[in-house]
Amino acid sequence: MQAQCVSLCLLGVMFFLCSAHAGGLRRCLISMDMRRMEESFRGIKNAIQAKDTFQNVTILSTSETLHSIKPLDVCCVTKNLLAFYVDRVFKDHQELSPQILRKTSSIANSFLYMQKTLQRCQEQRLCHCRQEAINATRIIHDTYDQLEVRSAAIKSLGELDILLAWIEKNHQGTSAASRQET
Ligand SMILES: *[C@@H]1O[C@H](CO)[C@@H](O)[C@H](O)[C@H]1NC(C)=O
Ligand SMILES: *[C@@H]1O[C@H](CO)[C@@H](O)[C@H](O)[C@H]1NC(C)=O
Repeated sequence: MQAQCVSLCLLGVMFFLCSAHAGGLRRCLISMDMRRMEESFRGIKNAIQAKDTFQNVTILSTSETLHSIKPLDVCCVTKNLLAFYVDRVFKDHQELSPQILRKTSSIANSFLYMQKTLQRCQEQRLCHCRQEAINATRIIHDTYDQLEVRSAAIKSLGELDILLAWIEKNHQGTSAASRQET
């Protein structure tokens, strides 16, 4: 009888934690204007992707990385990917065209802002990193490291549409997704 109660309680606590985590990203990025970033990117997508010489390799879609991320890991992976773009991709990228530079800078600024927003959430312990999320992030860094740095940066910039679509999907869909799972 008591054991039954304990496991019921545990189930309740787990359910609560799961909804808190799944809702974390949604609550954290609630004020982000994804459409503006997507529009900025659309303006430079062709120019960037034309410079990508290794069309046979992908960084973000390797081993279905993003698509196999579970709702529990979305917040952590988002946080890690924002750091990946801010600390590596935008820094490694060297751009001569002022027009492209203006757009990538604008996207980089939005990423910095999202990072700050997520940081606040992390302080509320809503953005926990499990081993799965750490592994997924490592795969992305490893693939990046295997390419020459300028090619890697261009390729990652060209894949921004994959990342933005993924964030948007998870940012708006988390509550619906967690309902489906329960
Ligand atoms: C991709 O293509 C380049 C040359 O275009 C080649 O050097 C490289 O080995 C290829 N990489 C893979 C993973 O097939
Ligand atoms: C993470 O990666 C390590 C090393 O590749 C592996 O041993 C481990 O099983 C992975 N963990 C998860 C949860 O995927």
